[in-house]
Amino acid sequence: MADEGNKVVDALRETGFFKPKKMYDGGKVIVGIIILFALVAFPFLYNVGKAAKAPEPEIDTPAIKKLSKAERVCVEPRPYMKVNHMKLLTDWRDQVVRQAKRDYVGFTKKTYTMSLQNTCLECHSNYDNFCNRCHTYSGITPHCWTCHVNKPKEWAAGKLKEEK
Ligand code: HEC
Ligand code: HEC
Ligand code: HEC
Repeated sequence: MADEGNKVVDALRETGFFKPKKMYDGGKVIVGIIILFALVAFPFLYNVGKAAKAPEPEIDTPAIKKLSKAERVCVEPRPYMKVNHMKLLTDWRDQVVRQAKRDYVGFTKKTYTMSLQNTCLECHSNYDNFCNRCHTYSGITPHCWTCHVNKPKEWAAGKLKEEK
């Protein structure tokens, strides 16, 4: 019996049945698994690093805190503002400068005065921790501030001091 068993094994060996077994090389397999893991995990690990650095604009200004929970919204819904605030600002400018219109009805039917300084930056009075946190991250420098004031309160306080 044992002999026959050995014969079968020998025969199989000759046909190369056991060859694949010899090709397993423990070291290479482990290296392969590590490389595969690294490739699969890379996008994930890479994004973890990025997500930690993504800007978090702060919306805890005095003007916003004064609003009731229900009213604590922007002039348009947040996802819209995130993507389209620059278009909205251009639209506001055109309506004020070209059509002498100053009232804007927001998505909650509340009426706002179309003004970068007096409306947007009244609520978002933390320019550095809000607007600029995103802009620095995205490498953007809006050219508005040669004419407009991005920190109206500080600017006004400075003017008062000058007059004294
Ligand atoms: C009445 C106060 C108020 C005014 C006025 C206002 N905002 Fe907002 N804004 C908010 C609040 C509150 C949020 C957060 C909204 C939310 O969580 O739904 C916000 C959100 C945003 C966001 C999205 C931020 C993010 O992290 O997704 C942008 C961009 C923005 N505002 C820009 C502007 C601009 C530009 C103007 C002027 C055209 C403006 N806001 C006017 C209160 C205001
Ligand atoms: C959630 C992030 C975020 C916040 C908050 C934010 N911005 Fe922006 N802003 C951007 C991005 C991103 C762009 C560039 C978009 C593009 O180029 O398509 C941009 C572009 C602009 C532009 C156009 C700049 C140009 O030169 O074309 C203006 C103006 C602007 N933002 C004003 C503001 C003001 C004012 C605030 C604060 C009240 C603000 N933004 C808050 C992300 C943000
Ligand atoms: C060369 C100077 C200059 C630059 C640069 C400039 N503006 Fe203006 N902007 C004006 C003047 C002048 C008015 C008219 C003011 C008024 O009638 O109240 C105005 C009005 C506006 C208004 C409506 C009124 C108000 O009080 O806000 C908006 C909104 C506006 N600009 C947005 C922008 C944005 C956004 C940028 C940058 C992308 C920008 N402006 C760059 C000069 C400028």
